[in-house]
Amino acid sequence: MGYKGFPVAGLAVCFAVILPTLADISYSIAEEMKQGSVIGNIAKDLGLDVSRLTSRKPRVDTEGSSKRYCDIKQNSGDLIVSQRIDREALCGMKPSCVIKLELVLENPLELHRVNLHIQDINDNSPFFKKDAVKLEIRESTEKGARFSLDDALDADIGENGVKSYTLQRNEYFILNIDTQSGGRKQCELVLDNKLDREKKMEVNMVLTAVDGGSPQRTGTVMIHVTVLDANDNAPVFSQALYKASLPENSLIGAAVITVKANDPDEGINGEVRYELDHFSEKNKIFSLDSITGEVKVNGPIDFEEESSFEIRISATDGPGLASYATLMIEVTDVNDNEPMISVKSLTNPIAENVSPGTEVGIINVQDRDSEKNRQVRCSIQPNVPFKLVPSIKNYYSLVSTGPLDRELVSEYNITIIATDEGSPPLSSSKTVHLSVADVNDNPPVFEEQSYSAYVTENNKPGSALCSVTAQDPDWRQNGTVIYSLLAAEVNGAPVSSYLSVNGDTGVIHAVRSFDYEHFRSFTVHVMARDNGSPPLSSNVSVSVFITDVNDNSPQILYPSPEGNSFMTELVPKAAHGGSLVSKVIAVDADSGQNAWLSYHIVKSTDPGLFTIGLHSGEIRTQRDISESDSMKQNLIVAVKDNGQPSLSATCTMYLLISDNLAEVPELKDISYDENNSKLTFYLIIALVCVSTFFLTFIIIILGVRFCRRRKPRLLFDGAVAIPSAYLPPNYAEVDGTGTLRSAYNYDAYLTTGSRTSDFKFVSSYNDNTLPADQTLRKSPSDFADAFGDSDSSPEILYTSLAEL
Ligand SMILES: *[C@@H]1O[C@H](CO)[C@@H](O)[C@H](O)[C@H]1NC(C)=O
Ligand SMILES: *[C@@H]1O[C@H](CO)[C@@H](O)[C@H](O)[C@H]1NC(C)=O
Ligand SMILES: *[C@@H]1O[C@H](CO)[C@@H](O)[C@H](O)[C@H]1NC(C)=O
Repeated sequence: MGYKGFPVAGLAVCFAVILPTLADISYSIAEEMKQGSVIGNIAKDLGLDVSRLTSRKPRVDTEGSSKRYCDIKQNSGDLIVSQRIDREALCGMKPSCVIKLELVLENPLELHRVNLHIQDINDNSPFFKKDAVKLEIRESTEKGARFSLDDALDADIGENGVKSYTLQRNEYFILNIDTQSGGRKQCELVLDNKLDREKKMEVNMVLTAVDGGSPQRTGTVMIHVTVLDANDNAPVFSQALYKASLPENSLIGAAVITVKANDPDEGINGEVRYELDHFSEKNKIFSLDSITGEVKVNGPIDFEEESSFEIRISATDGPGLASYATLMIEVTDVNDNEPMISVKSLTNPIAENVSPGTEVGIINVQDRDSEKNRQVRCSIQPNVPFKLVPSIKNYYSLVSTGPLDRELVSEYNITIIATDEGSPPLSSSKTVHLSVADVNDNPPVFEEQSYSAYVTENNKPGSALCSVTAQDPDWRQNGTVIYSLLAAEVNGAPVSSYLSVNGDTGVIHAVRSFDYEHFRSFTVHVMARDNGSPPLSSNVSVSVFITDVNDNSPQILYPSPEGNSFMTELVPKAAHGGSLVSKVIAVDADSGQNAWLSYHIVKSTDPGLFTIGLHSGEIRTQRDISESDSMKQNLIVAVKDNGQPSLSATCTMYLLISDNLAEVPELKDISYDENNSKLTFYLIIALVCVSTFFLTFIIIILGVRFCRRRKPRLLFDGAVAIPSAYLPPNYAEVDGTGTLRSAYNYDAYLTTGSRTSDFKFVSSYNDNTLPADQTLRKSPSDFADAFGDSDSSPEILYTSLAEL
């Protein structure tokens, strides 16, 4: 504004503008000139007289301010700087800075305006508002990102203001300067390379601002870039595969392994948490400490169920980046399973007749452990007739080794023991119950070798005689015994007509009444048969002995009980006392005591004359016969047996005391029917003579042929031959072996010792089947004239002679 119309006399540092008189005058000076520096000669420029100047008292005032920046040298009229002039303080960033001065002169008062243009010099450096710029940039920030920076300031203006910026060279950032419309320069940091907190956590660099003055001035600021973490790293396991091994049955809580994953990120981004991938229930057997990474046992570990585990584990940082690894856990076997025995098949019951070596059952043994722990040895207890034979793989056959006998051992408890080879070994056992089935292999066995039964004769039919018992140890019907009689004949009649046996009890009953005198014993066979199929049987002999009962009264053979007068005995008159006169002969069909006969005279004509031998039956004189004795003497003799009660028989003995039969005229008186009997007598004699003669003839012929070799075995006792025909029937019945049973020796009771009574009963002494009563009925007359050659003939002669 103030430049028009004024010549400008400018020097390099000083501009003096000569303003028109009375008009404004302008000067231009640089700021910060030294005190006293001459701005210009104002007097000259105003055309004032210097000499008079002093008197006019010039004074320079600053318009609107009390500060006096300038002064006037009164002697020269130079305008000088009297105070520091700081453009920046006066005008700031104004592009033109003018100090308005007033020169006041007195005498006359004159006022001149002086405009003092202050020119900028580069006296200020650029500066930044802050000492340091702090930036936080996340490492994940993309390349090219811009970060505005505060401008640098410079109090100077124009060329002396901030002109450019430079950034210290660094790896990550470059500087971008954006010149805006007002010429303002906007500074930006541009990310040129990605940051990596894990590599460099902080970037420091210096930003320099440069102004355009000369010399240039600079200002710097420190830029601190803190790299903020981004979760750009996933945790990384130290191994991709972790291997561990542990024995089965490890306790819950036992440590298995510790896994470790690293995450270089910071804070939560680097906080690793471990996890098991619980895809299956099985993985719950282990637990993983999410913080420490320690794997522990969390459940039962059974090798037999799962021998190895493959588990995925993950490591996750806070925001969720994860990585994975595999955990292989091998379980080692522990001998924790005892062998298992199972019976696959069993023949039960087993027949007792199986041959040794028969397979009875099949046993399977298993052990769930492995290797040595599953090697199993199998055995059974030694005291049974069975053995185990190893078969294919884990199979064993149970085989019989010996004969079985149900009757001895009917069942077996076979204990199978299986032991594995682990250490310590485990074993288990199983008992197999085996029954032995019956086979009909035992015949019934009688308790005794043979049985004897004693039965008194005249028993009641149906009475029990004895019982037989047979044992059969077989089972049920195989051991059920049934008794029966073996068919046979006894005395020509079937046994069943004698005996019967109760099939169930073995009790033997008499079917009929037995007669001892008919037969004394017989033997039958009883069979015991079991009910098996086929049945087995055995038999036993049962001997039945019939014992005697006194049911037969004595039979008097001589004299004839009929009281025939013919049976008169002659007693010689000269007989002395003690002479044998006659003999009563009696037999008893019974035996033993029942046949032990005793003789008594129950009545006699002269009781003192005769006596009878108690057991011999011999009648003897007691004293010498005297003339006075009656010629006819009758004796009634009773014969008693010794049975209980005893039976008896009586007979009458007619005795005639005479030397000659002819002398006995009274003989006729003795006999009763003289006429009849005489005729009969002669007839009989004739008959007997003829038959005897005939018999004798035949017998002599036979005797000539045989008798030289055969000696008669007659029982002679003194002069009296007692033929065995007098023995009771069946007397000589032999018992099996032909031995006489002493208990039945009754001949002792027969008449013995008679010397005087010749009494020959001639018969075949073997003919013991002749019934006694037949013999007894023979009349004495039958034998009257029968005489035979007693030397050579075995034949039978009967004489009744009274011998003197
Ligand atoms: C077999 O075992 C059963 C039941 O344990 C028992 O009753 C029986 O007496 C035993 N038998 C033998 C022969 O030991
Ligand atoms: C009897 O033995 C036979 C073989 O001799 C046998 O078959 C049967 O089963 C046995 N009976 C009983 C009840 O044991
Ligand atoms: C009776 O038993 C014997 C051997 O004890 C035997 O020899 C005989 O044949 C048996 N008789 C019958 C009919 O069974």
